[in-house]
Amino acid sequence: MSARQRLVVQGGKRLEGEIPVQGAKNSALPILAATVLIGGETTLYNCPRLTDCDATLRILSTLGCGCRREGGCVTVNASALTGTSISNSLMREMRSSIIFLGALLGRARQCRLSFPGGCEIGARPIDFHLAAFRRMGADIREEHGYLNCTAEKLKGARITLPLPSVGATENIMLAAVLAEGTTEIHNAAREPEIVDLSRFLEKCGARISGAGSETITIEGVRKLHGCDYTVMPDRIAAATYLCCGAATRGELMLTKADSRSMEPILSVLEQIGCSVYSFGEDCVYLNARKRLKAPPMIRTAVHPGFPTDAQPALMALCATLPGTSIFVETVFENRYRHVAELARLGAKINVEGRVAVIEGVDRLSGAELEATDLRGGAALVTAGLFAEGVTKIGKACYIYRGYEDLEARLRSVGAEIRTET
Ligand code: UD1
Repeated sequence: MSARQRLVVQGGKRLEGEIPVQGAKNSALPILAATVLIGGETTLYNCPRLTDCDATLRILSTLGCGCRREGGCVTVNASALTGTSISNSLMREMRSSIIFLGALLGRARQCRLSFPGGCEIGARPIDFHLAAFRRMGADIREEHGYLNCTAEKLKGARITLPLPSVGATENIMLAAVLAEGTTEIHNAAREPEIVDLSRFLEKCGARISGAGSETITIEGVRKLHGCDYTVMPDRIAAATYLCCGAATRGELMLTKADSRSMEPILSVLEQIGCSVYSFGEDCVYLNARKRLKAPPMIRTAVHPGFPTDAQPALMALCATLPGTSIFVETVFENRYRHVAELARLGAKINVEGRVAVIEGVDRLSGAELEATDLRGGAALVTAGLFAEGVTKIGKACYIYRGYEDLEARLRSVGAEIRTET
């Protein structure tokens, strides 16, 4: 998908029907990086077809791994690693490429990679990652935009994170599984994707306890072996589709979802007046064919708080609800870039630092917009589906970083949406 491609949405169609949820991007990316640690073949099922996953597979190939994809099934063979450096152009494709630092240190005790790229939603430093690896005995030099890392010995350590960073927690886990001795991560991130990564690593022979709690303990082992693993469902893509359903006052059934990981999102949808039911472990039903109202204050927070990644789509929905909503973004400092674009559709949103005040309006009308980042782009789709007339969303490539077959999924439930070059 090129940067010139646009999504064209004819709004005003009620969404009705069933949407299968894709595998989780934020789980698949660290699990793919973790395959570097394994001296054998790993098969991943439910691995979403996303440009970020493609970029990760390209990195694995340059490191000497054999990679194959057939639909949602990806096989990685890392038995013979031939490289430990990642070029600037590959690193810049996405922020989560930094996760290779822990994986390569764990496997090869050395690596060379440049500072990562990714969505511009805040400063997104990597100081927690680097401080943790240094504590584990790594020597890290920052030279000409590159990080040169070596660790004669990688030792378990007691690490307390200043904030429960998702990426830092995952990176430390990857370095620690093959390190000497025990690593304790205090103030660890508790996101469901951390639990998924832990389950995968345990299935490969790692010894990890406490994933999903504030303290994770990892006892280093000498070797990991390959396994077959199914990536968890994507709770953020699921949340986005529910917001699209609610914005069009529709009725959706999500299948292949993980309702337990979506609790903070489902409770907000209930508060605004939607009927939301979970069936079994993997189906979520939403009925928004009723009078909806603005929610009480939405404050993004680390899990189990309201996820920052679902904030933009929920904000687009709230822009269409009667009443005033107040959002406080506590995770990233620059996560309201979609607001100026939503305003072009007629949304009334005022931003003051980390606070956004949204006055719901009865109607939005189609306009030409530009996606500013992945989740901000999803917000524009959500609003475009509600707006009267045609909305064109430029820089759709951002959206394809995280949403598999977005148009096909939305079209299957009645949306009029297509790609235009
Ligand atoms: C991950 C997710 C992203 C999500 C975010 C928060 C992936 C691939 N991405 O991003 O979709 O929005 O979690 O749920 O899983 N920080 C530092 N120093 C560091 C690391 C982080 O100051 O070394 C700060 C960040 O600037 C940010 C906060 O910690 O303000 C949280 O970031 P973090 O949890 O690390 O997010 P990511 O892992 O980048």
